[in-house]
Amino acid sequence: MGPDRLSIQAFLDDLEASFRQASQRGEVASYIPELATVDPGYFGISVCLPDGSVLSAGDTQKPFSIQSISKVFSLAIALGREGDRLWKRVGREPSNFAFNSVVELEMEQGRPRNPFVNAGAIVTTDAILSGRTPKETLAELLLFVRAACGDDEVYINQRVAEAENRTGHRNYALAHFLKSCSNLNSPCDRVLGTYFHQCAIEMSCQQLAAAGRFLAGFHPDFDMIGEPHVRSINALMMTAGHYDGSGEFAYSVGIPAKSGVGGGILAVVPRRASIAVWSPGLNRYGNSHLGTLALEKLSRFTGWSLFEVARV
Ligand code: DON
Repeated sequence: MGPDRLSIQAFLDDLEASFRQASQRGEVASYIPELATVDPGYFGISVCLPDGSVLSAGDTQKPFSIQSISKVFSLAIALGREGDRLWKRVGREPSNFAFNSVVELEMEQGRPRNPFVNAGAIVTTDAILSGRTPKETLAELLLFVRAACGDDEVYINQRVAEAENRTGHRNYALAHFLKSCSNLNSPCDRVLGTYFHQCAIEMSCQQLAAAGRFLAGFHPDFDMIGEPHVRSINALMMTAGHYDGSGEFAYSVGIPAKSGVGGGILAVVPRRASIAVWSPGLNRYGNSHLGTLALEKLSRFTGWSLFEVARV
């Protein structure tokens, strides 16, 4: 049934030691000023197992900007509240363009391809804003994330949110286009203010791996959103969690996962593991370069790819 805890820990230690030296680390996101200055030398990986153990190597206690990984949590809340009504406004297909593409949204006549491209996440945030103020919405989101990871020390970095609000012209373009198609209920600046704050949540690898347990099916306290929604989110993470790089990610890693431009990836192996990895340098799709490589190696070592047949 795959390697035991001790051999996974030894594998993570070796991985971390070799990645410390890596010279090809990708490019740190520069379009959000506050992220441009993050040291690309960081690397951390944490793995939560169903027995409650947490295996970690590297910089796993340092909080980083979770960015698009937050879309998983807002989607969980939106599905819990709206159920299938959400799909009238957002699709469930992989995208063929960059995560912030304007042209794709126009081709789809204002119904974003999926909830993980920026346009889809903006609609999801609009959905969770319904009947609430931005402050209440963000408080609910933080409550959810803190309950998921079992740790109250999770905060929003205001400077990151404000920097993105100043420079996020593409997201403003997407929001206004959505509005013109009647697919946004609240005013654009209200939705985006909430969305930028949601993206600016900071978590460490240890917190993020713990938070992913509700998607892996072994959260200790409660069934946070219900099994059918968990299945939907995991399927979307598999097909769209890495945007137009999702096919390549499924091929090389084979695990449902969601990336963020802060360099984090949350990966969920149903009933087996919840994994968080962080390395700030990105590949051409805007996904962590070393993070992806780390998950590929871990998936090979453990046999955790959902498409694995050798060890089942
Ligand atoms: O809206 C944005 O562009 C960022 N706040 C989030 C994008 C992101 O994380 C894409 N992921 N790899």
